[in-house]
Amino acid sequence: MSTTSYAFGEDHEAHKQLSLRLLTKDANFILPYLKPDSYILDVGCGPGSITCGLAAQCPQGHVIGTDSSPSVLEKAREDAKHINNVDFRHGNIMDGLSDFADGSFDIVFCHQVLVHVSDPVASLNEMRRLAKPDGGLIAIRESLTTLWHPSNPVLEGSMGWMHRAFRAASRADNSELGLETGTNLPHIWAREAGFTGESTVLGSVSGEAVSDKESREQRVLGWRYLSAEGSSFRDHLIRAGATQKDMDEITGALEEWKDSPDGWQLWLSSEMIWRK
Ligand SMILES: C[S@@+](CC[C@H](N)C(=O)[O-])C[C@H]1O[C@@H](n2cnc3c(N)ncnc32)[C@H](O)[C@@H]1O
Repeated sequence: MSTTSYAFGEDHEAHKQLSLRLLTKDANFILPYLKPDSYILDVGCGPGSITCGLAAQCPQGHVIGTDSSPSVLEKAREDAKHINNVDFRHGNIMDGLSDFADGSFDIVFCHQVLVHVSDPVASLNEMRRLAKPDGGLIAIRESLTTLWHPSNPVLEGSMGWMHRAFRAASRADNSELGLETGTNLPHIWAREAGFTGESTVLGSVSGEAVSDKESREQRVLGWRYLSAEGSSFRDHLIRAGATQKDMDEITGALEEWKDSPDGWQLWLSSEMIWRK
């Protein structure tokens, strides 16, 4: 089975940032659908902080996290070593998760992964294969777009660069979605995967706002880290066509935004659940 590296990097800092994600903060849309004994697959689980949150909500159930990056799975196993109803397996959704039989899971869950894979539609089809035929759910949360205040064309264009870099990282050649505007359209992936209105259980949007100075500073530091010499994400940006000038423009615009007393960024994500 093929391995991949996480587009934002594989080092301690990248894993630490992802570990800050929590079920109750980032993915609470799934909470009403969890049962104490749910059997759940978390596709692209990363360091597993959300996976462990799912396990805590399902004490008589079991959660399996899969990810295509061996190093992130090491961190997940280490962090979850005292939790007995979760385990982690290597798996690349693009190769098919053949360790698991058709119709195995009550819930096949996937948080902020489809933008990183080479074929989101094929991934959704594989997720549907793995959900139980009698009421199994497929649940995703995927980044949609970001809004900035004060508005600035460089910042608005910066998400397009992020997406082009993700595409360069996953070597996708099948989808142009979001490359210019940085706006994803996961409902199109869903339609192409054959999820119809009838199978839709939930379609909603949630967002996180960055508005205080400290969080704005974190955003700038995050970008500086991603675009610094030696960062793997910088390599993806360059492969996607970004020049040093493009990166410097984004840094300058972010610095200006950070110092604006009313500076604000809203990151919107789409949350969708379907019944198989
Ligand atoms: C943005 S992180 C999300 C991690 C976790 N779901 C969360 O929200 O905290 C994306 C994860 O998807 C994994 N990933 C990327 N391509 C994948 C693939 N083809 N199959 C499985 N996992 C993949 C990456 O290794 C990374 O851990």
